Amino acid sequence: DAAAGDVKTSRFRQATLDLPIRPRRNRKADWSRRLVRENALSVSDLIWPIFLVEGERHREPVASMPGVERLSVDEAVGEAERAASLGIPALALFPFTDPMLRDARGSEAQNPENLVCRALRAIKRAVPEIGLITDVALDPYTSHGHDGLLDGAEIVNDATVEVLVRQALLHAEAGADAVAPSDMMDGRIGAIRTALDAANRTDVQIIAYTAKYASAFYGPFRDAIGTSTVLIGDKRTYQMDPANSDEALLEAELDLAEGADMMIVKPGMPYLDMVHRLKTRFERPVLAYQVSGEYAMITAAAQNGWIDGDRAMMESLLAFKRAGADAVLTYFAPVVAEKLKRG
Ligand code: PBG
Repeated sequence: DAAAGDVKTSRFRQATLDLPIRPRRNRKADWSRRLVRENALSVSDLIWPIFLVEGERHREPVASMPGVERLSVDEAVGEAERAASLGIPALALFPFTDPMLRDARGSEAQNPENLVCRALRAIKRAVPEIGLITDVALDPYTSHGHDGLLDGAEIVNDATVEVLVRQALLHAEAGADAVAPSDMMDGRIGAIRTALDAANRTDVQIIAYTAKYASAFYGPFRDAIGTSTVLIGDKRTYQMDPANSDEALLEAELDLAEGADMMIVKPGMPYLDMVHRLKTRFERPVLAYQVSGEYAMITAAAQNGWIDGDRAMMESLLAFKRAGADAVLTYFAPVVAEKLKRG
């Protein structure tokens, strides 16, 4: 009959479970959800990695990273101004090196007039307040695409560290506020700290790529800096095995003892456990790098209409904060900063 099928709201609301604690109560309205929110993303959490290329008033798209472009130095200065006005604290610089300038030893890394050094000077002059972070590694400069010196099939540790030290000093001289060794050689943090201090650059920070994994998620980045076509083999003898977790604690212990001011976990989202482990164990600044492949996945799925790109972007970045990251390197930085500004 009619009464049996007539389900009234009030009947639905009748409590049938005896629950003193109902977590949903705090989620019932926006005002309440805002009050109990544990983490928030702010513009101060963002580091924007940018790609540099030769030329003037020149920008070229990176095919595997829709929305990301390589920028000539003058264009990079313009973007640095925009980033500063948005409140983004820092940029990380990555050069696309003219393939003609690549050689086995990565000599161009030691050229004070190379693309990164010129960009450092130009941006520092125009936008002194923005933090400038440089990658210390040889991969943009070597003909074989590796981060270090290759002897036969081996990446030689100690000789590489010597070269990286000179690269870091050059970056500091050109205006880098922080150098970020991403090469994963043993002992490089201590060697760079010692050399910076001896050069009276105790002010230059070292942001160590502490837990950097041999990852498939770097693919689009290698397109962006022109390494994918030249790289011989893989980087598994120096970057970490994705299967490992305790090993990152050893890397962190060493990096901190050698003088690292901050640590980076890279890639980001597949390694949130490492962000959390490093943060809780050491209680020191931990940054996550949302790498090129993560950016590409979100962007590609959004372009296909398969996910809401905007929401996935914000959710992925908030997840880094929840895991314990103090800041995030992300190619979404300017888009997110604009969005946060609009409120
Ligand atoms: C290499 C370097 C890499 C990235 C930053 N520095 C790639 C690699 O190790 O091959 C990757 C960043 C990204 O994928 O966004 N020194």
